[in-house]
Amino acid sequence: MKEKETSKRLLQMLLEQNGNALSGEKAASDLNISRVSVWKAIQKLKKEGYDIKSSTNKGYTLNPSSDILNETEIENNLSDFAKKLCSGKIKIFKTIDSTNNEAKRFLNTPADAKKFNASFFFAEHQSAGRGRFFRTFYSPKEAGLYFSLIICPEIILQSAKKMPNISCFTAISAVAVCRSLRVLGFNPKIKWVNDIYLDEKKVCGILSEAIINMESSSAQAVIIGIGINVKETNLPPELKNKAGFLYKKDAVSIKRNIIAAFVISNLIEMLYGFYPQNELMAEYKDLSFIIGKKIQVLPFYGKSYTATAVDISPSGSLIIKTANGEKQELVSGEVSIILNEP
Ligand code: BTN
Repeated sequence: MKEKETSKRLLQMLLEQNGNALSGEKAASDLNISRVSVWKAIQKLKKEGYDIKSSTNKGYTLNPSSDILNETEIENNLSDFAKKLCSGKIKIFKTIDSTNNEAKRFLNTPADAKKFNASFFFAEHQSAGRGRFFRTFYSPKEAGLYFSLIICPEIILQSAKKMPNISCFTAISAVAVCRSLRVLGFNPKIKWVNDIYLDEKKVCGILSEAIINMESSSAQAVIIGIGINVKETNLPPELKNKAGFLYKKDAVSIKRNIIAAFVISNLIEMLYGFYPQNELMAEYKDLSFIIGKKIQVLPFYGKSYTATAVDISPSGSLIIKTANGEKQELVSGEVSIILNEP
């Protein structure tokens, strides 16, 4: 058995012990390897950051609150459908420039989009995390969930009953994150189009990018990048009043692998048409906290202006009423919005 496979299976055995000790002898016999190989695999896991205690009498104990991103633990907690689709397709990096960039590096031909459909790329840290409008996304080590999904619409359409419209993918991803957070006891809200807030601080951002086939004018692949601030950590001054976290410093938190599994399961099921698009968009509208509020619209080009947010259209556009009473529809990605003080 390869070293990597040994440590993966050993980790699985340790996780199944739920904080109880696993004897070296049992591990060696179940894995059909020597006790020295078990010891070596344990050292490898410790190096990866797992909190494992060794005792001569009892064996090895994994601290159940050990919170290192791990493919096996994510896969174990996926819904049946997501497990079938994503098993073996979750890749975790200790550090990388940007998981969206990494996903793109896998997409060189149309065949790649099909091959890597439903693949997830996670990183414990991003050195050049990207946000919308060419902003950076602060991605400190082991504090958040930073990941990207490759979706090939053509593949979904071959198997799903009904895929939501691609123009709704970002909004639907925000709903998937919110649903997952609600199950975990949070009360998230969405600021159009894809920022998720908790207690007036942004805790999650989503960056969707498409690879377009110019001949057929269709999306060959969509990359959905999600960044969630999970555990409180020091923030650079410019983010101090804006960014928040799911959990305060030292609070007992749900493990990131579990949160990741919830989001993946919801997201995959939504994209594969488990729920009607109008139902998801209605959920999006309910979660949105800018409807009825005065906003400032900052077009990508041109001057900013004030307006009132009136509604969310069935395709996820923001309907606004300008100062002269005119109704306008703002398409995702066209503007960013600053909420005025109430
Ligand atoms: C935003 O808030 O403007 C969008 C932020 C998106 C961040 C995520 S983290 C994972 C993925 N990789 C990136 O570089 N960006 C997205």
